[in-house]
Amino acid sequence: MNAPATVYPVAEDFAAQARVARADYERLYAESVQQPEAFWGRVAERLDWYRKPTRIKNVSYQLEDFRIRWYEDGELNASVNCLDRHLATRGDKTALLFEHDDPALPAEHVTYRELHARVCRLANALRALGVRKGDRITIYLPMIPEAVVAMLACARVGAIHSVVFGGFAPNSIADRVADCASKLIITADEGLRGGKKIPLKANVDAALKLPGTNSVETVLVVRHTGAAVDMQMPRDRWYEAVVEGQPDTCEPERMNAEDPLFILYTSGSTGKPKGVLHTTGGYLVYASYTHETVFDLREDDVYWCTADVGWVTGHSYIVYGPLVNGATALVFEGVPNYPNMSRFWEVIDRHQVTIFYTAPTAIRALMREGDEPVTRTSRRSLRLLGTVGEPINPEAWRWYYDVVGDARCPIVDTWWQTETGGILITPLAGAIDLKPGSATKPFFGVQPALVDANGAALEGAAEGNLVLLDSWPGQMRTVYGDHNRFIETYFKTYPGSYFTGDGCRRDADGYYWITGRVDDVINVSGHRIGTAEVESALVLHPKVAEAAVVGFPHDLKGQGIYAYVTLIAGESPSEELRKELVAWVRKEIGPIATPDHLQWAPGLPKTRSGKIMRRILRKIAENAPDQLGDTSTLADPSVVENLVNERLGK
Ligand code: WT7
Repeated sequence: MNAPATVYPVAEDFAAQARVARADYERLYAESVQQPEAFWGRVAERLDWYRKPTRIKNVSYQLEDFRIRWYEDGELNASVNCLDRHLATRGDKTALLFEHDDPALPAEHVTYRELHARVCRLANALRALGVRKGDRITIYLPMIPEAVVAMLACARVGAIHSVVFGGFAPNSIADRVADCASKLIITADEGLRGGKKIPLKANVDAALKLPGTNSVETVLVVRHTGAAVDMQMPRDRWYEAVVEGQPDTCEPERMNAEDPLFILYTSGSTGKPKGVLHTTGGYLVYASYTHETVFDLREDDVYWCTADVGWVTGHSYIVYGPLVNGATALVFEGVPNYPNMSRFWEVIDRHQVTIFYTAPTAIRALMREGDEPVTRTSRRSLRLLGTVGEPINPEAWRWYYDVVGDARCPIVDTWWQTETGGILITPLAGAIDLKPGSATKPFFGVQPALVDANGAALEGAAEGNLVLLDSWPGQMRTVYGDHNRFIETYFKTYPGSYFTGDGCRRDADGYYWITGRVDDVINVSGHRIGTAEVESALVLHPKVAEAAVVGFPHDLKGQGIYAYVTLIAGESPSEELRKELVAWVRKEIGPIATPDHLQWAPGLPKTRSGKIMRRILRKIAENAPDQLGDTSTLADPSVVENLVNERLGK
């Protein structure tokens, strides 16, 4: 059994002023699952609708009758909810607080009025370029205000944005552009992170030379670093030039609640990344409601989420949630260790940040540098801390709590996924006692359950696979262009429920402890990488015959990427080739997929039917050859012996 975790009780002064206090949680939770229509109907009133929804929830997870619809007769526009409705009361309030990579540059304050005008100008320009409701637009930008402007301008004209993280390589951009047949790309000359330049425009140019990308008619280029870039006329246009002279108001497109808002590509266990599709009404209700409730948002908060808008965290908790809520959100272009290890804390002091939301991998990296870079800053403005992306080890949690938060600030460990649109399991700081390492309890309307490998429900304290028994408004609606894949991936494994792909333990207090992915997805520093993607990249190399990739525990990244490679006959392993293959994967997918280990494998462990036994490869990668388990179904047991000896350096 697990040792009892220390409990950090709700601070009474926090509870006294919290949006959800102790007594509220159980009552509201019960209502949310017993009367979801009443509950979510009421919550939807937080948005401005052209037409208020009367049909709140229409969901069935039964395969013969499958549907997920929320607020289906409602009509609204996302950008109006993020901007226009604040103009009367918050026009001069800072919407975005932009902190450059270079701390010597002054921060930029973008008010709601200014943001509205910038969004309208770009939206008008998009229309002038022929963009219409339902068109797909790819956004490949650094963390600069234009990234937010671009997303909201798409939403204003009803175009579906697909943001591609700046760390992805041309091949990955091309795959994502081709999959949704994007008409237009918005990029910048270069990105800048920790003083290093990222050739964004050059990457787009390379991507657009690849097959399948003919749909792109226009590339808008933001001048950011001022670097010289190749402009291919008439395809490429300077962003500044197309928005110049456009009116600063723009008629928004009236969208149905179930019209798509965005696509975001994410890795799964098999094949290419899936285009996770989120729609307008339910997503906005859920993102804004969770943002306000989980972060206990108040009017004068300065809220900072360190994610990139290339990930769902940026979509829901930098852009849509905070802006619907009229909050001030900090947008940070840089990295935690530049120009020094105190950067996060210096930014917090400079802007008097009150709510800070980051990833366990960043916390672990900063913790390694000792307390001094933290303690030489004040951080008195902070009142709430959050984490997301991967399980946080209790040691890192305590350091975050004691050193960063001076033992004053509750931590919300928020579990969710690209697919879920918003936070599903999390503490509410005024209502739920904390346990380091546990995401604690389900948010309103969320019904987690644990099942064993056969789908049998596990009751009470137990460990199993995490499923969700019913829908919530922020749930993804489909895989873009492949509805079958959506149903196959999430609703077939355990019929009648949504399968998360995560393992989880529930303790005797009903607290949830996410244990990590149980499928072939590796969580590297909070980013999902499919083993199949890295394998396909490796086997594209002319000298590689076969590859198998698994995750292994990594001190900083949570999980690292471990690749086993079999060379074609006649090729022999060398240090040079190892480096070449690692660089190859970086070039094919992007730096985030860089293998941490690459082991030569004269053969791979397979069953007699030819299936690679990843369980065994994981144990070898973990350096736990004594836990290989049952190897009796192997076609050739000597293969394993070879790999183990090689791993142990024998
Ligand atoms: C996977 C989803 C949700 C935004 C960032 C990642 C893992 C996420 C936690 C957490 C333990 C977590 C899960 C999940 N994960 N948050 N608080 N505790 N694990 O989104 O790329 O879609 O990845 O991240 O394994 O399934 P994503």
